[in-house]
Amino acid sequence: METASKETKKSETPTIGIVGLGYVGLPLAIQFSKSGLKVVGIDVDPTKIESLNAGKSYIGHIDGSLIDELRLNGRFLATSHFSDASDCDALILCVPTPLNQHREPDLSYVLETGASLAPYLKSGTLVCLESTTYPGTTEIDLRGVLESGSGKTAGVDFHLAYSPEREDPSNPESKVEQIPKLVGGLTQTCRDRAVAIYAHAINTIVPVESCKVAEAAKLLENIFRSVNIALVNELKVIYDKMGIDIWEVIEAAKTKPFGFMPFYPGPGLGGHCIPIDPFYLSWKAREVGQTTRFIELAGEINTAMPEYVVNVCMQALNGVSKSVKGSSILILGLAYKPNVDDDRESPTYVLIEKLEKLGAEVAYNDPHIPTVRPTREHPHLAGRTSVPINDNFDLILLATDHQAYRDYDFSTFKCPIVDTRNCINKKPHSYLKA
Ligand SMILES: NC(=O)c1ccc[n+]([C@@H]2O[C@H](COP(=O)([O-])OP(=O)(O)OC[C@H]3O[C@@H](n4cnc5c(N)ncnc54)[C@H](O)[C@@H]3O)[C@@H](O)[C@H]2O)c1
Repeated sequence: METASKETKKSETPTIGIVGLGYVGLPLAIQFSKSGLKVVGIDVDPTKIESLNAGKSYIGHIDGSLIDELRLNGRFLATSHFSDASDCDALILCVPTPLNQHREPDLSYVLETGASLAPYLKSGTLVCLESTTYPGTTEIDLRGVLESGSGKTAGVDFHLAYSPEREDPSNPESKVEQIPKLVGGLTQTCRDRAVAIYAHAINTIVPVESCKVAEAAKLLENIFRSVNIALVNELKVIYDKMGIDIWEVIEAAKTKPFGFMPFYPGPGLGGHCIPIDPFYLSWKAREVGQTTRFIELAGEINTAMPEYVVNVCMQALNGVSKSVKGSSILILGLAYKPNVDDDRESPTYVLIEKLEKLGAEVAYNDPHIPTVRPTREHPHLAGRTSVPINDNFDLILLATDHQAYRDYDFSTFKCPIVDTRNCINKKPHSYLKA
């Protein structure tokens, strides 16, 4: 496997089209633009286009003033017109790849985007998919809509590649340009073209054998996390029965300087990737007559965690002679990971629903998410607002390890607190880990 450095590949200044300006597309658009390239950002959501053209960011950790500066310097244009793709030398697709209601891959966003862009492909345009997906999506599914919509042939008239996004949204040390980027192409020329394009903005490019290898590598990365999180979640339950604190065990194990990498338990999986992506592979594996036993088992264990947490809440309430029914419960944290405003697939939603089903009155606090946005899976929770933290609840359940909660002084609180993240430093009298 070779790596290509930025210095060796900077020989032209292409215009880059980024399609899908969400958590992945917007930072990438900014990075290309900061690197001196002209970027056209395309999104079907008119509110996002309006915000960007007003120099405003809709993602907490992205600074609106930077977008404004790039826009005023003529290096960033946000648009909802796919016809603007005809000005671009490379089109990078960063659109969602969710599961449908049967928990099967929903490629509709990728395919619709491909169909919308196809009429605007020029000779030599690079089309590169970044969305996480099963192996074969780029070379078969996306290629199909691009070729039929353009009348052009991939690998001959236009270049086709796949380069998975790797992002660490809550980590301020993580910079887009510093994360090595895998790139696979339909042909070697496609791959070389993609490597040259990304080398304008990313320090280390790692060319791989094919689009399928790059697609499969991204799935391996996410399945690795899902399986390891399931392992510590299972051990948490077992060690708890033995009176052993899993958090102390992980701290001890992580002193081993080789062959061990810490993963931490929690109230269930969240985010756009880890709860979803492994099932892209499960679905595809069935096509070749294989079952994905590790993936299914990890999914089962991780999905059972909210139920476990609810049971610990019941015990905590029992300890103060209360039942869940009729109790008021405050959940700390709606985001699925610390210090971000991303609530996608957050286990907090499941916790709210389970506790309310048992008759509790549930409120939430999240300094990063003042109001619950509409979601496909939990539409009835939309519009609820974050409430201040206070001691007037029957129970507090910590679901997300935001720094604000680490710093908060709970030591005088009278109500029991259940902590699923080993997060609370200044503990109350009645404190349980879950
Ligand atoms: N968020 C992460 O940390 C992360 C990390 C690695 C990989 N990924 C993968 O990257 C992909 C995108 O994820 P995201 O988190 O940026 O999603 P997102 O929902 O934040 O953003 C997707 C954007 O695409 C837009 N869109 C939808 N259909 C479109 C279309 N037909 N044409 C143009 N725009 C369209 C949406 O309006 C939205 O702005 C997914 O496949 C995801 O699995 C995400």
